[in-house]
Amino acid sequence: MIKTDVTQARKFLAGDEFTAAFEKASTAFEKIKNRSGKGAEWLGWRDMLADPNDAILEEIDSLANKIRGKADVFIVCGIGGSHLGARAVVEALGSFFGCEGPEIIYAGHQMSGKYLKELVSYLEQSKADGEPKSVYLNVISKSGTTLETALAFRVLRKWMNNRFPDDISDRIICTTSKEGGALNELIVEHGYKKFIIPDDVGGRFSVLTPVGLLPIAVSGVDVKTLFYEAVSTYEKLEDDPQEVLEYAATKYALYQRGKSLDVLTTFDPQLKALTGWLQQLLGESEGKEEKGMFPATASFSTDLHSIGQFIQQGTRNMMETFITVRSARKSITIEELPGNHDGLNYLSGQSFHEINTQAFYGTLKAHINGDVPCVVVSIDKLNAQHIGAFIYFFELMTAIYCYCLEVNPFNQPGVEDYKEEMYQLLGKR
Ligand code: PA5
Repeated sequence: MIKTDVTQARKFLAGDEFTAAFEKASTAFEKIKNRSGKGAEWLGWRDMLADPNDAILEEIDSLANKIRGKADVFIVCGIGGSHLGARAVVEALGSFFGCEGPEIIYAGHQMSGKYLKELVSYLEQSKADGEPKSVYLNVISKSGTTLETALAFRVLRKWMNNRFPDDISDRIICTTSKEGGALNELIVEHGYKKFIIPDDVGGRFSVLTPVGLLPIAVSGVDVKTLFYEAVSTYEKLEDDPQEVLEYAATKYALYQRGKSLDVLTTFDPQLKALTGWLQQLLGESEGKEEKGMFPATASFSTDLHSIGQFIQQGTRNMMETFITVRSARKSITIEELPGNHDGLNYLSGQSFHEINTQAFYGTLKAHINGDVPCVVVSIDKLNAQHIGAFIYFFELMTAIYCYCLEVNPFNQPGVEDYKEEMYQLLGKR
């Protein structure tokens, strides 16, 4: 399970501030449940947990196994909600170096021509045994029109067509809306395999749909376990929402107190992408109508040597959210060194995980002393089960907190502004 501890943040609030915020969070949750709040037509991310579709999970699992058996490289082509969730889970549960199954490579999440050119050259290089690489491509775009993704797909599709003319329709998998968008036209024209993103699930809430589940399954994660732990968390929080309400209320009360920044941080570098997913989930959901706390991310202890100074002593406008992992999957224990010339023998017998944990506790104490309200989220262990729980907990917390702010968590009208300007400059008609 995951556990959240808001006590070190509540210390910065008066009792009645928290009580009022908690009441607001409770009302917000009721609105979500009875579909009477803003954007209620976008609650599919809850409905799919209330009524799981086993057939889709089976289909994803069996296709992923097939791909794992045949692919050397699996390209995930998407941006925003069509990129960050899958990447967060793949990185949280994968290895730092190398991997057992296909190498997962991301594309379509920016517009670097150099990146794409180098990617194509990399795909063209033979493997160590002299054989060409076997490549599969999953293009993910709900709208089917997002420029970054569509451009990368155009380039990669051409390369794949030349390289794999005989089985191209098996190698390209499209994840998109049921209808509409240029991607659906290409699917019809070329017979690519298709997974549907439900209409009532927005991008940043879509990691538990085929958007996230197919890449996650191809990386070797048991998506049924992941999904069903999200289902259990959904059921648990429907009956007993105290923890998620306390969290949302604390965040909202701190916002009302003038906090305008939430630093999302972790001492585990494998969770960097997970804080990136959280950043998007919060940022795109709450940042509208001139409201919300800017979600920043930091990766500790690395960033303690950069923005740690600011967090400790800079403008006092922030709260901090620590995402921690209780037990390590692998670690190294420090050995006693004869002579102790580097002066580190006082740490001998301790593992990196234990030392890192003390770094976390020390940082937590220092930041609280520096007047930063801190929330601690702990994950027992990095595995599919706990990450499944984490995903739903934060989706629900985000929706409740946004309803406290009285904004629609599920739209992103501001994103269109840059697109309009860009398309005008590019001469799109
Ligand atoms: O959360 C969102 O809705 C966005 O971040 C989208 O996921 C992102 O803009 C990509 O959109 P699409 O899947 O339509 O290409």
